[in-house]
Amino acid sequence: PKILIMGPPGAGKGTQCSNIVDAYDVEHITTGDALRSNKQMDISDMDTEYDTPAEYMDAGDLVPDQVVNAIVEKALNDADGFVLDGYPRNPEQNEELDSMTDLDVVLSVSVGNEELLDRLTGRRVDPETGDNYHVKYDMPDDEEVRERLIQREDDTQEAAENRLDVFDENTKPVIESYHDQSEFVEIDGEQSPDDVWTDIKQAIDEQT
Ligand code: AP5
Ligand code: ZN
Repeated sequence: PKILIMGPPGAGKGTQCSNIVDAYDVEHITTGDALRSNKQMDISDMDTEYDTPAEYMDAGDLVPDQVVNAIVEKALNDADGFVLDGYPRNPEQNEELDSMTDLDVVLSVSVGNEELLDRLTGRRVDPETGDNYHVKYDMPDDEEVRERLIQREDDTQEAAENRLDVFDENTKPVIESYHDQSEFVEIDGEQSPDDVWTDIKQAIDEQT
């Protein structure tokens, strides 16, 4: 299937994408991960304000459309079934997506701002495995792992607050534009990860 998952920063998109990939054998297309592995890429020839994605990302701002569109176009060409995560983030990207593919399911995972800030600022990442932890709810028992955990540059209070503002201003209107379409399903993201997954699986099965 062709699945789009949308939602604010920290809603659990990445977490649920792992489940979707395992259950439906689709490609995980994520602009966030793709950009994080290419943060220092030279984009100066693309007529952008800054020379690398890092300047935008660390502040929690959107990387320019032309950079992101190119990443998604290539990934979509290489994929049969997919779950798209982190794109589109504004109406212009949504128009671009519309010209590139059709979709079977559009999931919108919603979580309130207070919970989002708590999840983002408390998140710690294991740089060796990519696993996510949380300082309050979920720390590894292994001391060696605990000591190598890092915080994502854009998970500081200031950057996280900016990401939520950027979402409200740019991405919310995109989600609203899908509301009346038959492939749209709203998911309550303030449940346990397992319960969120149960709802997502049901939605995908009903739509495909
Ligand atoms: P991106 O990587 O896409 O980040 P994001 O959307 O801000 O969201 P996150 O990855 O932080 O959250 P998530 O929803 O995946 O949640 P997760 O599962 O990790 O983008 C990063 C940056 O790249 C952007 O700011 C921008 O600069 C750039 N960028 C990317 N795409 C772009 C685009 N299209 N255009 C322009 N720029 C772009 O979970 C979060 C935490 O919560 C984890 O710790 C997790 O363990 C925990 N958690 C998950 N589910 C639950 C649950 N049910 N209950 C409790 N805790 C939970
Ligand atoms: Zn993510």
